Parts: sequence; structure tokens; C-alpha cells
Amino acid sequence: MVAGGMGSRIYPMTASTSKCLLPIYNKPMVYFPFCTLMSAGIREVMIISRPQDRAAYQLLLGDGSRFGMSVCFAEQQDPRGIAEAFLIASDFVGDSRCALALGDNVFLGNELPAIFRKAAISVSGAIVFAIQVADPKRYGIVNFDERGFPSLIEEKPSNPTSNWAVTGLYFYDNSVLEVASCLHPSSRGELEISDVNQAFLKKGKLQVKKLHGDVAWYDAGTPESLFAAASHVRNLQRHQQHPTAVPELIALQNGWINRQQLTQLGQQHNCSEYGRFLETLGLDVHFD
Ligand code: DAU
Repeated sequence: MVAGGMGSRIYPMTASTSKCLLPIYNKPMVYFPFCTLMSAGIREVMIISRPQDRAAYQLLLGDGSRFGMSVCFAEQQDPRGIAEAFLIASDFVGDSRCALALGDNVFLGNELPAIFRKAAISVSGAIVFAIQVADPKRYGIVNFDERGFPSLIEEKPSNPTSNWAVTGLYFYDNSVLEVASCLHPSSRGELEISDVNQAFLKKGKLQVKKLHGDVAWYDAGTPESLFAAASHVRNLQRHQQHPTAVPELIALQNGWINRQQLTQLGQQHNCSEYGRFLETLGLDVHFD
């Protein structure tokens, strides 16, 4: 997961901290993509951050063992682009498939875990997810040809011809390491994730899955979208009693920890609403 970058679009909130440590309602932002990866069945995660933020992420997530996971940390010296993650994480990835999650992306939707899990297991080439947006100039955009196949991926086009944004969760087979090693910085000086996806598209190895229906997606990288994401999450939790981004709960559902461990985790923080919630889950949990 990439949680670096300058967070310049939401300065001064990021003057003294990393964007992905800011809250989305009642949880740190990074919990959302972290849970997205967990819900896809991914148990080994590397968090890439700025050097000055590494200790804070380590304090927050630890080595992952309390979620039955393995979490490690790496630093990106300068914000040279999202796709630099593959160069930083190449030893970590080894000869496996991998997924990349952007630390400011919030996915909400009951059907998403099954969709992401399938992608994680089956990817050959690349799988990305697209959603229709009102402001396509802000994103990596995918165009489709008349048969509905992806025809072009462009990063923040000034004259977009499609309103399908590529969201910040990407699944690749191991050839992504080779693809990333051949990238050149874009005109804004970054190794672009859109160039990685365009390279897979050119090889005929890119699948774009359209997200519809009940799915909500936020790139929480502007004050407006940060607020909108927080408001949506609050609504889900307070009015529909729907827990979102609770890694301990996903760990239990995945069979990575047991109820007793969950209760203990709750007891450690039982002066908070979150801790008491975990305690309750440990005692009595019902799955849909
Ligand atoms: O949210 C989806 C969009 O995210 C995609 O549609 C775009 O193709 C993709 O480039 C990205 O665009 P953004 O402009 O929103 O990216 P941003 O600079 O906000 O970075 C996203 C995350 O990646 C954020 O958590 C910070 C982290 N990051 C970013 C850069 C440039 C790093 O860790 N290192 C970096 O060098």
C-alpha cells in the first residue's frame, strides 16, 4: 500500500502528519484500504510511506499479528510517483502476484469483498476497477471502444473523453515488476500507475471491471471528498449499524484470529467506543 506523497491538496491538514493518518469519521484513513486488502484475502502487506511518517504507521498497525497478518514498512524518499512502489517492494513481492492499494481510497459496498477476492486469486496480467465520476480530470481515466473493451488509459487528461475513473486498487501478476522497471517519469516527474495499466492494456493483458450499483468510492484526497467519505461512513455506522473498516472483524471473518483474541483486543481499549464494539463482537458475532 502506498501512503506517502505530500498531501499538498489538503494542506495545512498535512503540514505535520501524513494524509492517510487523518480520520475518516472514527478511524484513520489507512484503515480503509488496509481493510480492502484484507477483505480480498491478502495477509501480507507492505506500507510505503515518507521516512518521517514510518514510525507513526508502525505504531498504528504494528507487525500485523493482532490481525493475524504480517505487516512490514518501507520508505519512499521522495514522491516520485505511485508506480515507484513496485521498485521499492520488488523483494517483498518476490515471484508472487500482488495488489496495490492507494492509501486514500475508500471503497464501500457489501459485494466488494467477493469481487476483490476473485481478482486476487485469478489475476493474469492486470485487473483494475473503474467507476463513473463527475470530474474525470482528477483521475486516471479509461476509455472504452465501441465493443466495450478498454482502449486507452490516461492520467488526468485535460480533455477527458470518458468519465470512467480507474480506482486505487490494482491487481497484477508478477510481470508488473518488469513493467514498472521500464517506466519513465511523466511530464510531472512521476512514475505513473496509469502508465503501468496502459502497458498491460497494450499487451492485451488488462481487465477493467466496472463498479456499479451499491458501491461507493472516494478518493479522500481533497477537503470535500474527505468530508463526503466521513459523512457516508458516519451514516452507515450510526443509522444502519453497519461497521466499516474494522480490521479486527475482517480478521475474525477470515479465520485469522479467534473470538477470544478479539475480545482481548477490545478489552485493551474499552474506554473507547471502538474497543467496546470489539468486545461485543468477540462475544456475539453474526455473519450474513
Ligand atoms: O484515487 C484514484 C486515482 O489515484 C487514480 O485514478 C489515478 O490514476 C492515480 O494516479 C491517483 O491519482 P491521485 O492524484 O489521486 O494520486 P495521489 O497523488 O493523491 O496519490 C494517491 C496515494 O498514493 C496517496 O495515498 C499518496 C500516495 N503516493 C502518491 C505519490 C504521488 C505515494 O505514496 N507516493 C507518491 O509518490
